[in-house]
Amino acid sequence: MQLPNYKEARSRKKQQIQKEEYKKDESFGQLGKGKTYYVKTYGCQMNEHDSENIKAMLEELGFIESLEMEASDLVILNTCSIRENAHNKAFGMLGRLKHLKETRKDLILGLCGCMAQEEGVVDEILHKYRQVDFVFGTHNLHRLPYILKKHMDSNQQEIEVLSVEGNLIEGMPVKRASKHKAFVNIMYGCDKFCTYCIVPYTRGKQRSRKKEDILKEVEELVSSGYKEVTLLGQNVNAYGKDTDSDYSMANLLEDVAKTNIPRVRFMTSHPWDFTDQMIEIIAKYPNIMPSIHLPVQSGSSRILKLMGRRYTKEEYIKLFDKMKEKIPNVSISTDIIVGFPGETEEDFKETLELAEYCKYDNAFTFIYSPRENTAACRLQDDTPLQEKEKRLYRLNSIVNQYFLENNQKMIGKTVPVLVEGHNENGKTELYGYTDNNKLINFDGDDSLIGTIIPVEVVDAKTWSLDGKIV
Ligand code: 5AD
Ligand code: SF4
Repeated sequence: MQLPNYKEARSRKKQQIQKEEYKKDESFGQLGKGKTYYVKTYGCQMNEHDSENIKAMLEELGFIESLEMEASDLVILNTCSIRENAHNKAFGMLGRLKHLKETRKDLILGLCGCMAQEEGVVDEILHKYRQVDFVFGTHNLHRLPYILKKHMDSNQQEIEVLSVEGNLIEGMPVKRASKHKAFVNIMYGCDKFCTYCIVPYTRGKQRSRKKEDILKEVEELVSSGYKEVTLLGQNVNAYGKDTDSDYSMANLLEDVAKTNIPRVRFMTSHPWDFTDQMIEIIAKYPNIMPSIHLPVQSGSSRILKLMGRRYTKEEYIKLFDKMKEKIPNVSISTDIIVGFPGETEEDFKETLELAEYCKYDNAFTFIYSPRENTAACRLQDDTPLQEKEKRLYRLNSIVNQYFLENNQKMIGKTVPVLVEGHNENGKTELYGYTDNNKLINFDGDDSLIGTIIPVEVVDAKTWSLDGKIV
């Protein structure tokens, strides 16, 4: 049994990360033959992509994906720690599965992802959730077949969570959710330690993949007909900073654009590492999509300092203005936290002013949620939850108004759309995303799915557009 340890997870030793090729252990044969699995994913795109690896590893063992959790032989919860409600959702699901296991003793139940990296969570699983058969963390995804086999052989609870990240694993199998757009990890972990954030603990220190491995993956996607890649990382702009090379995110973006993949996206960007060179490259290559997620978190420089964000409101605005000026048709989205410890009405008003100024195309807004072991959870927090809820409501009514206004400005324009699929319940037949990342619904034939076509915007709503094919 290997349990998570925060003290070890916090240490950032300057040691070179080694690369290791994923190897399938043939001796496991068809461990899952005749069995079905269900993977429930919580959290961010990083987790979604991890689930694509998990699914492929299970299928190599003979398991077949089931669409019904209750009827599956193996259920894995890939969890998220970012806020309390993500925790509650996963624990709620564990409670449901605990009951299910009372009637279905043969059900195998696994838990992985960011919550598995938390000392408190694993402790709770050890003491309160003995029904969980195995746990693995974010650093040892590739060990799933071994951990599962160990549990199936012994029928014991298996817990293997590494606190210190191991090698960078290349060549893991992947069962991609889409045939048209793909996630490509470019780096793992984060060294920023924003004071509210648990990610540097759950995902470990920053490790960049080698550019050759990334470009090879993108080239393979191009040859299999993929139309879009999203380069993924907790803080993609810092790509390469953990290596001795001066090859940067700007260089990588340019090389990925040169593979001729029709669409390149990337997320998430920390304003601190966003260079002028990156802006130039985004503006220069038409296949780098003009859509940037640029979390601001707060409009008050005092709160930004307490958050450990390393920029002031003025510096953020300067960067924001530069992007708007240099990248034609760019849409900018953001993340904002309200009710950070010590946030006053004055601080909050500065956030509202910033939202009014930036007129974001999209914004994800959250109430601050204290996370175990982070620096902010030790700060005094006097603002009642009710007041924080009011602030969230006030903020949302402002940002939502600009989503609609920005969408309305697109009416009458013809925009390129990657057709992603058939609307099962909607009024129109198809949906897709514009270059600047707006959801658009329109009528058309299913044969268009997976192509990029011009669509005229005919109507605008807060979170989507209506269009017609031209
Ligand atoms: N409480 C609330 N929101 C948080 N986020 C990260 N940590 C917390 C927290 N402790 C938000 C940030 C981040 C997004 C992914 O989640 O806005 O950008
Ligand atoms: Fe959640 Fe962050 Fe982990 Fe993603 S990296 S699953 S957002 S805690």
